[in-house]
Amino acid sequence: MAVSPKLQQQIAEGGWIRKMFEAGIALKQKYGERNVFDLSLGNPVVEPPKEFVREIKHLVNEPDAGMHRYMPNAGYVETRTAVAEQLSKETGLQFTANEVVMTCGAAGALNVVLKTIIEATDEIIIFSPYFVEYIYYIDNHQGVTVVVPTDSRFIPDLNLLEQNITPKTKAVLINSPNNPTGVVYSSDTLKDIGELLEKKEREYNREIFLISDDVYRKIIYDGLGCPYVFPYHERTIMTTSHSKDLALPGERIGYIAVNPGYCDRQELMNGLTFCNRTLGFVNAPALMQHAVRVLQDVTVDIKQYEKKRDMLYENLCRMGYSVVKPQGAFYIFPKSPTNDDMEFVNELQEYNVLIVPGKGFGAPGYFRISYCMEDWVIEGSLEGFSKAAKKYGLF
Ligand SMILES: Cc1ncc(COP(=O)(O)O)c(C=O)c1O
Repeated sequence: MAVSPKLQQQIAEGGWIRKMFEAGIALKQKYGERNVFDLSLGNPVVEPPKEFVREIKHLVNEPDAGMHRYMPNAGYVETRTAVAEQLSKETGLQFTANEVVMTCGAAGALNVVLKTIIEATDEIIIFSPYFVEYIYYIDNHQGVTVVVPTDSRFIPDLNLLEQNITPKTKAVLINSPNNPTGVVYSSDTLKDIGELLEKKEREYNREIFLISDDVYRKIIYDGLGCPYVFPYHERTIMTTSHSKDLALPGERIGYIAVNPGYCDRQELMNGLTFCNRTLGFVNAPALMQHAVRVLQDVTVDIKQYEKKRDMLYENLCRMGYSVVKPQGAFYIFPKSPTNDDMEFVNELQEYNVLIVPGKGFGAPGYFRISYCMEDWVIEGSLEGFSKAAKKYGLF
């Protein structure tokens, strides 16, 4: 058998989004592209900002000598400095290039961080509902995933978190704005988590990291701010990318930022840089590092996403669905009108609408809609949601 039994199992269990994708292809062949409303994938239809296109043209037309060669494994100092300057401006803290590692997207960043800090069987806490890839990333580096449910508003429950921190806990991994719920953690929530981690660090005489996956940080609505995690715990590491804020997911460009107040940050940076190299990334793509250097304060048009959120949220509420209003990212995570979320997903497929069951995110009884789609897809799906709501007696 070419594929190990463990991997076979992971492929079978973790394929919800892929399954929906395949169901979508079959439905499109049968009913035609414009008659299928696929809300399963988080692949934005928004194009990168014009500043990005301009910069790429500039790099092609006026290349610098050596700009495609190997570089330091942490990335170009100029790019890391530009990231650090932007972070300093936004956080009020003093970041330098020495706290930044350029990575192959947020996924690359998370794998580098986990590889660096995990000793086999160390526990990493994540909150459900979660981004399912976390489980594979943690397993990649021999970590053990501990899942802690959130409360009814999808906010971490401090008592449950405390009960799940053990002498083996190495890190707590959070994601705000959140995939799949769209919630944003307040500074109070971050403060509570930070204080709890410091208490537990003292109790177990061991460092516990707070890793913040900030990949949706700039996709935020209603004029809300998304607090940075750094002021709330010394051992904080942020991972992010330009996959969402510059709509560049295929280009694989992101970074890790280490708290400039962390006393052992140089040692940590050495580990991160080594892992960026030895995990096989070697360095983040050179061309993209040149491009994003000058785009640190540029973001796609968030208003487009906000309009889509409003349209979907208002309609789902009107139909009687129970929904927590997303404050960021481009997902919405309503309660399934039947406890069996798979049954509901199948019901919606009858109306050519594709969504992902909550159990794919460790939260059965819910479903995820991704609304980074063209308006006609969202508008076309509403009839299906309405028919299903009626069938399950929501109105
Ligand atoms: C919560 C979360 N983290 C990380 C990632 C990975 O981002 P990237 O494409 O930059 O690797 C995604 C992608 O959808 C995500 O939703």
